[in-house]
Parts: sequence; structure tokens; C-alpha cells
Amino acid sequence: MVDGPLTRAVHGGRDAKEPGPLTAPIVQTSTFAVESEEALAAGALEPLGSAFYTRYGNPTLARAAAAVADLEGAEAGIVVGSGMAAATTIALAFLRAGDHVVAQRSCYGGTSALLTDLLPRLGVTATQVEQESPDEWRAAIRPETRLLLVETPSNPKLEITDLTAVVELAAEHGILTAADNTFASPVNQRPHEFGIDLVWHSATKYLGGHSDLSAGVVTGRAELLEQVWRTLIITGPVLSPHDAWLLLRGIRTLPLRIRQHNRNGEAVARMLAAHPAVERVHHPSLPGNATAARQMSGYGGVVSFVPEGGPEAAVRIIDRLRLFRRAASLGSVESLVVRPAAMWAGMLSEEELRRTGIDPALIRLAIGVEDTEDLLADLAQALG
Ligand SMILES: Cc1ncc(COP(=O)(O)O)c(C=O)c1O
Repeated sequence: MVDGPLTRAVHGGRDAKEPGPLTAPIVQTSTFAVESEEALAAGALEPLGSAFYTRYGNPTLARAAAAVADLEGAEAGIVVGSGMAAATTIALAFLRAGDHVVAQRSCYGGTSALLTDLLPRLGVTATQVEQESPDEWRAAIRPETRLLLVETPSNPKLEITDLTAVVELAAEHGILTAADNTFASPVNQRPHEFGIDLVWHSATKYLGGHSDLSAGVVTGRAELLEQVWRTLIITGPVLSPHDAWLLLRGIRTLPLRIRQHNRNGEAVARMLAAHPAVERVHHPSLPGNATAARQMSGYGGVVSFVPEGGPEAAVRIIDRLRLFRRAASLGSVESLVVRPAAMWAGMLSEEELRRTGIDPALIRLAIGVEDTEDLLADLAQALG
């Protein structure tokens, strides 16, 4: 019998009848005492172990990783200190000088910087393609391509990558695939079901859900996760046990929260699409998103739009919003708003920003779990 997502999230990847404390203990230790030198040596070698040294593994971290792996339908998981730590560790675990990556033009700025700044310094090149064009993905493949990196829906324009097409292409050439599932969450989309090898998250977002922690997660087959772990113990972006516990607490209500994020996201997208002061709206729930309908069961709380009147009008609208706080991040219970072109101006050059195709007037709403009617009323008054 397969339990539903609400049940699985509440029980956090463990047997509901398991005796012991109802909530996970916070094993707030950096190391573990053992009885013999043999046990110490064995602990250091145990992949994904949890009783040697916290950078190598820790029971609270293992519980959080198991909870996400369970929701993603994966054999194994690893938690790390941030979403970027997850992305960087995947890259360092599977790539070496001379290798090539195909990724999307439209993706989180940090991921873009990994591809265009850090990896080239290590002799790894990347080609960024239009994610909605399977032909561009295909044309970018080279004999030395080792990794296809997907982000769907993408940040900040909610563009959709066809997971099946990417997996088929990767299988033809024997290439590893990795998907950033941050925007969807495992409640709305499970890329492993489509054959994606590695799934990663900024768990800072929906998985944590309360803007009170930074974390990342990688899930996949145990054999691949062992490789990630071997890199992780060298690079060292360890998550604190307390933050792993906060993550576990967030996960227990993930499907409940996602239901309201989905409901609010759809309502706001519909309202904005019909508003005369709005030029363009991006949300996978809007008509014409057949790929999203095929691979997602809900569309999440991030909606971005371009208002009439350019960047000045966008800033005025953001200033007038009462319930949306101006802050980077998304996926939390409270609604947030940013203008991505302004937020990323310091991180990307003007040329890079232009290449991402981000309109300077684009507003990104990270819609929380407030009452739908309150959010709609706030947006209506801000749009004037
Ligand atoms: C889609 C996506 N992936 C990855 C990240 C990076 O995550 P973190 O901030 O936890 O390092 C972000 C952060 O905003 C994001 O939006």
C-alpha cells in the first residue's frame, strides 16, 4: 500500500509505529565516541553513515534526507548547508577538466554563475540553451558532454523544461541528468519518475517553508549519492543538526502548505492575466502550458508579471503592496516580492542579464499561504 503525500510528509520517511520520541532528536554534536580504533576506522569509511563525525553524517541530517528522498521517490538523499552547496557538490562530484555541461539560459542566478564563472576556472565548459526547445538541447550535445542540468519551472519566468525529452536525449548519449526541483517541490513534481538521475533543492524554500533556515538536498540512486557524499566530505558544506530539525518540522506540513500556495498562485495568475494594467503574466497554470500539465500536479506559488509602464511602474506597484515584503527568496508562508533585474544587477553583468531575457519591469511574486482574497485585494489596490 502506498501512502499519500500528506501521510508520508507527516511521518517523515520512517515507520509510523517505530518506538521512540515522536519528533526527531536534535543530535547537536560535531563528533561521536566509539569503543575501538576499528570502529573509528569503519565509521570513516561508511558512505552516508551517521555516527562518525557530523561532516560525514549525523542522525538528524539523515532523518531530514530520508524524509525528502521519500517524498521524491528516491533511494537515498543527502542534506547540505544550502541549495548552492547542493548544486556545486553535484558539479564537483561528477565533472572534471575537459567535460561539458548543457544547461538552461533561464535559471537561478547562482546556478548561472556556477556555469559561467566557477566551472570554466576548473576547465569545465557549459552551453546554455532555450529550455523549451528540445532541438537546442540536442544541438548542444558534444562527445564530452557529461551532464544535462535542468531547472523547471525556472526562476524567475516559470518556463518549463520537458523532462521526458531531456531524459530520452541523455539516455541516447549516456549522459547524467540533474534537475533543480525547488520551484515545484516534490508535492507538485517528482523528476525521478521521469527518469532524472539526481534531483536537488534549495530546501531554504518550500521544503523548509518558514524563512528560518538555509539548506540544500540531493536525492537519487544510492550509488550516485555515494559519489556526492565522497565530494561533500571534502568540500564540507555541512548542515547544522538544528537546521536539519527545522527542515524536518517544515516537511511535515509541506503538502498542506503547497495546497494553499497552488491555490493562491493560480488565483493571482488568473487575476493578473485579466488586469488591464498588466502586460504579461508567467505561471504554469495559465493556458498553453501542455508540458507543465503533463509533468506537474500543481503549479506553486511563484507568479511573475510585467506591468504596463516599465520599471518605474513596477517599483511603484511594489512600494504600494501591503502584504508582500520586499525580500529575496520564495516558498515561505509569507508573501514576498522582488524585481529580479534589480536584485541580480550586482550578481550578473548587464550583458548576462540581457541574455537571461529578464524584462527590467518583471515583478516576481513569491506567494505565501495567506487568505487568497486578501492577496487579490492587495494586488488590486497596488495596481491601481
Ligand atoms: C531555483 C533555485 N535554485 C537554487 C537556489 C539557491 O538556493 P540557496 O539560496 O539555498 O543556496 C535558489 C535560490 O533562490 C533558487 O531560487
